[in-house]
Formats: sequence, structure tokens, C-alpha cells
Amino acid sequence: MCGIVGYIGWQEAAPVLLKGLKRLEYRGYDSAGIALLNGTISVMKQKGNVSGLETDTAKLREKMPGATIGIGHTRWATHGDPSDRNAHPHLNAAGDIAVIHNGIIENYSALKQELISEGYQFISDTDSEVLVHLIDWLWKKDASLDLESATRTALRHVDGAYGLCVISSREPDRIVVARKGSPLVIGIGEGEFFIASDAAPIVEHTNKVVYLSDGELAVVTKEGYSVKTIENVEQEKLVTELDFSLEKIEKGGFEHFMLKEIFEQPSVMHDVMRGRVRLEEGRVCLGGIEDYLDRLKQAKRIVICACGTSWHAGLIGEYLIEEFARIPVEVDYASEFRYRNPIVGKDDVVIVISQSGETADTLAALRTAKEKGALVMGICNVVGSTIARETLCGMYTHAGPEVGVASTKAFTAQVIMLYMLAMALSKGRTISHDEIILNLTELADLPAKADRILNLDSQIRDIAERFKDAKNFLYLGRGYNFPVALEGALKLKEISYIHAEGYPAAEMKHGPIALIDEDMPVIFIATRDSTYAKILSNIEEVRSRKGRVIAIASEGDKEVARLAEHVIYIPQASGPITPLLTVIPLQLLAYHIATLRGCNVDRPRNLAKSVTVE
Ligand code: AGP
Repeated sequence: MCGIVGYIGWQEAAPVLLKGLKRLEYRGYDSAGIALLNGTISVMKQKGNVSGLETDTAKLREKMPGATIGIGHTRWATHGDPSDRNAHPHLNAAGDIAVIHNGIIENYSALKQELISEGYQFISDTDSEVLVHLIDWLWKKDASLDLESATRTALRHVDGAYGLCVISSREPDRIVVARKGSPLVIGIGEGEFFIASDAAPIVEHTNKVVYLSDGELAVVTKEGYSVKTIENVEQEKLVTELDFSLEKIEKGGFEHFMLKEIFEQPSVMHDVMRGRVRLEEGRVCLGGIEDYLDRLKQAKRIVICACGTSWHAGLIGEYLIEEFARIPVEVDYASEFRYRNPIVGKDDVVIVISQSGETADTLAALRTAKEKGALVMGICNVVGSTIARETLCGMYTHAGPEVGVASTKAFTAQVIMLYMLAMALSKGRTISHDEIILNLTELADLPAKADRILNLDSQIRDIAERFKDAKNFLYLGRGYNFPVALEGALKLKEISYIHAEGYPAAEMKHGPIALIDEDMPVIFIATRDSTYAKILSNIEEVRSRKGRVIAIASEGDKEVARLAEHVIYIPQASGPITPLLTVIPLQLLAYHIATLRGCNVDRPRNLAKSVTVE
């Protein structure tokens, strides 16, 4: 949702904070603000993105020369519309306490009424402002408190999610930070410390970080940091070495992060399989779940829970695990699973899939499944994320930081993880050693095939040019490519704002075919697999209603070329592998249509990279 940063050390804080906020802008860009502490607190905040803040920050630096302590926030509005007064940081009336917050205070209105009855006045419509007044009120009531204990006491009154930083000129040598539900990382430098919602703003300064866990609060000074629980119990924290570089976060010469991440997929495929696909031994080695493999194999049922693109990957996982491992699988939207009192128990396995590892609905589904006694494993990309830490076991996709809001390489990495999981669950049970070798060989050939598809970029851009003004799109696929049709439609929707729907191709005649006319582009994923003949007749159905057919087909397929207006040829692959190839042209098509329409694909409207509220 929002991005928060903090700095305490020897450098001038303002430029460090501004740069950090820029790296977190994919988390939200409705407003931005920073507060500097140098004996007193000075705040600069406003509606709009971080670059808008630069000019005013220059004035702030003049006003607060040499301030080496500060906090910053970039907002994704939930409570209170994007505006200057709803921007963070929020100050108390005396202006000697400042708070920035990422998350939602669910009982804020009750707390607000109580504080108003105590004479407090609120400037903003946000839930977050409650925090600064609550800390002030409790500290006033009990002068023996200090900033840390006043914050801790305040948080005991709070229901909801928070990642927050608090500074006060009453204790001008520290930053107090706390988390519950929203991520928070502390970067350990030489005589300086960096605080952020994730490691992106930190990696250029240090690769040593500490991830705060839910219910933890830390006091950070120039000398060091101490971590305790909200119940005031000391905590020993593991220092993690970050395994990615700043370059990895920069655009690498591409115009947008999304395009860079699409072109990173061949190397990401290598990274996901590295050390896991043991071709010579005919097996996969999945360290993160090795100890639980037998229990996974004996599962009465596997339930996959996720949101958005991760849910589409889960659908492909269902096809893979059922086909190869013959274990029944069902796929649930995490937001539905968490509230429908699902029937899961100790004989079931629940797999939660999340790129960010912070998606609130998926986290709640995880906790629901745990409460019901299921074995809960995770597939995550962000190392040290909440979902990764709360699952019993799991696998990291190692796709590297995904900055583009529209997920691309993480999807590919998730599907490869699910393919390897299906192989691990099948080994010695449902498929022979030779079949595994065959499948893993095809998996290992993927990066080269993906490279060949990326070489079609300019052809795909030409097709985009022809259809960029379309009002609607339909995406159709069968079997393994039905979820890819859903994913292709989602990519187009989220970055070009064109209405698009994905469907199982056979579903057309049960209604959607009514939408077809000469203005309807229809994307068919028509690769040569077990459903090929059926999809050809579906193409005929659409052509007979003058639909504009664009087809993804297997190289050399003349039949589809006879039927479709445009054909994007991809290397031949077996059915279970095709989603990893057919999705790439759809990612590129959406990207080019969106950029040709002048959309900002890295920061699409109304979206954020990680949705940490329900
Ligand atoms: C995909 O492009 C979107 N950004 C969104 O649907 C995303 O997949 C969803 O919010 C789930 O995120 P997660 O994988 O980080 O949990």
C-alpha cells in the first residue's frame, strides 16, 4: 500500500529519504511527505508523487540544515482522499511528535471519538492521524513514559495493520518503529540505519538487514537498534544478507520496469531452476519443502490460495499437480477462502502463492488454514516477507525484485515452481523416472525458447499498433492455456485500462459469443496440444461472426494461419509447458498497447504492487 522510509545516521537525511521514497513509489503515489528532526521537527508534505516534493524539500533543507534524522512516506489512499492534509507525516498539536503509517487502523473511528472527547482536533480524514494523538495523549497522562513506551501503549489500543515510524523532538536522538501486518525492514550501515517498507531503498546503502516480525517494536539510534515485542519482551533478530544489487532494481536500459522484467524471464527461468532441477539424477531438489514431501504426497487434497496473477499461476498448478501427481487440487481466491469457513483439516495441504508475500487476503487465508490444522506451505518471491515467515515450509521463486506493478516474471517463476513441485510429488508414485527426465529436459530448454519469443517483440508491437484503440478484448484458451487467457486479459486491463475477459474457449457458445462482431479482437491461444482440434473450431465460430482473430500458435502451423488475421508463432512445447511460453507474447502485447495509448505501465492508475489491506 504505502511506502515508508526512515534514516538516522551521519548523512543529511532529506536526500536519503527522497531517494528512498522514489524507490517505493510503486507501493503508492497519491501523496508524499517527509519530516526532519534536528532539535525540532519540520514537515513537508503534499498531494502527488515524490518528485513533486523535491522543490519544497530544498526549502526544508535550508530550514533544517544538516538534519541527520528523518522519516518519509508515499501514500496509497484508503481513508481520506489524496490531498495535502491527508498526506503523511501527521503531527500532534504541539508539533513535537510525527508519525508515518502504512496499513489500516480498523478501530480508528472509536479511538478518534475518544480523543476528540479529550479535546483533540483532527486535521485529516485519515485513520493514521489517530496514532500521533493517541501517543501524545498517553504520554501526557503518564509522564514516566518515554517515546518507545508511549508508542507501545498506544499500539495496544490499536486494531488493524501497521508499519509505522515515530519521531519526537522530546527525544531527538531516535526513531521508534513498529509493525503488525505491514512489512518493515531495518538496514544496518556503518554508524547509520535505514528503515523501509522493503529492501528496495536500502540495498544501495547496505545489504545487511533485519526484518521486523508482526507485533515487534524497535528503537533505532545512531549507535544501534533494539527490538522488543509489543508485550515488552526483548527479541534477538537475525541479520539477513540481501542477495540482489541496486542494478537489479534499476531499469537496466529499458523504458519501463515491466518491459525489463518481461525480458528478464529467460534468466529468471534459469535462476528458478538453478540447484533444483537435477537432470542427471532425474529429480528436482526443493530444499524448502524436503522435510514435508512425504506429508505433501499423502495429502488428501491440496488447496491453492492466492490473488490476482498468483491465482492464475495457482490454476495452472492445479492442472499440473492433478495430471502428474494425481492428487486432487482446488484453487481458491484467498479473499473468498478466508471468509467462507472452508472445509480444510490436518490431512489437507494449503499452498499460498504470493509474489510480495504481503498480500493481506492471502496472509489471512494462510492463517485460516493454519487454524484449521492444514499443512500450509508458501511460494513467495520476496525473501523474508510475512507470508514466507508464517508458512510451515515453502519455496522462494528467486525471480529478483519485481518493481513493475503488473506482475510478469514472478508469474513465470511461480509456474515453474509449481511444475517442479508436481515433478517432486509424482516421483516414484505416478510417473516413471524416464518421464521425469523427459519433463525436466523440456523445462531446462525453456529459457532458449523464451528468448526466441522475445525476438518477436517488434512483430507484437505492430499488432498492438493495429488494436490499440479497441474498446474490448476477449482472450480464449483451453486446458493449460485457459489460465493464460485469464492472465493475458488481466495484464491488458491493469495497464491499458481496456476492458478484457479471459474464457475457456468452449464457454463462448454459452453466452460471450454474443459480444463478437467486427470490432472485437479475440486472442486465441491455439498451440498444438490435446485440445488443438477443438480450438480450431472455436476460431471458426468467432470468424463466422466477423471477430478479429489474433492467434498464438506453434511454429509452422499453417492451419491457424489460414484462420487468423495475425499469428504469433512460438516454439513447440508439450501442453503442461506451453503456459510458460504462451504468456510472454500476451505480456508484450499488453505492454505495447498500453504504451501506445500513453499509459504509465509501471504505475498504472488505482493499482499498487502489494495490496496489504483487504
Ligand atoms: C498482477 O499483475 C497484479 N499486480 C496483482 O493482481 C497481483 O498479482 C496480486 O495483487 C497478488 O499479489 P501477490 O502475488 O504479491 O500476492
